[in-house]
Amino acid sequence: MQTAIHDSGGRLTLGDLAAAERLGAAVAARLQTGDAVLLRGDLGAGKTTLARAILTALGHRGEVPSPTFTLVQSYDTPRLAVAHFDLYRLKSPDEVRELGFDDALAAGAALVEWPEQAEGHMPEERLEIALTAEPRAATLSGTGRWADLAAAIAGEAA
Ligand SMILES: Nc1ncnc2c1ncn2[C@@H]1O[C@H](COP(=O)(O)OP(=O)(O)OP(=O)(O)O)[C@@H](O)[C@H]1O
Ligand SMILES: [Mg+2]
Repeated sequence: MQTAIHDSGGRLTLGDLAAAERLGAAVAARLQTGDAVLLRGDLGAGKTTLARAILTALGHRGEVPSPTFTLVQSYDTPRLAVAHFDLYRLKSPDEVRELGFDDALAAGAALVEWPEQAEGHMPEERLEIALTAEPRAATLSGTGRWADLAAAIAGEAA
């Protein structure tokens, strides 16, 4: 059922790390348990950098290593539990369940790099952020409760 789900959003340039931090803070301010943030973009597009900015804005202090090899890193931030996934090395889409994807959404929010590796397992309601390195930019879109929030975030972080 696609009722009451529509896309909206906006594009913003991310010229430097401070711009990524602004976007991360605008996303973090709206993040709740059950939310999925899909971070799309080629190698080096800035997905981990944005995940780091979101975690920092949620109050996490300390490192945010790329989950390239662990595939998932979990955080208990002061505000929210967050699971940071990098599905690039996923062997099959179903493996995302073994990584605890559903439990992560039940317990908190999920930030997902390379969601296309398990597209069928991603929730319909999500915030999508498509990143590019040349030029550094982000395009936001959302479905469900994120439809209006995507536009608000793009406006706030611009
Ligand atoms: N907005 C930005 N401004 C300047 N440099 C950035 C920005 N975003 C990311 N970078 C830099 O680009 C490089 C790659 O970023 P990052 O690791 O976040 O990419 P990624 O999309 O997660 O890559 P991968 O697909 O390998 O996981 C890093 O050196 C990072 O510091
Ligand atoms: Mg990465």
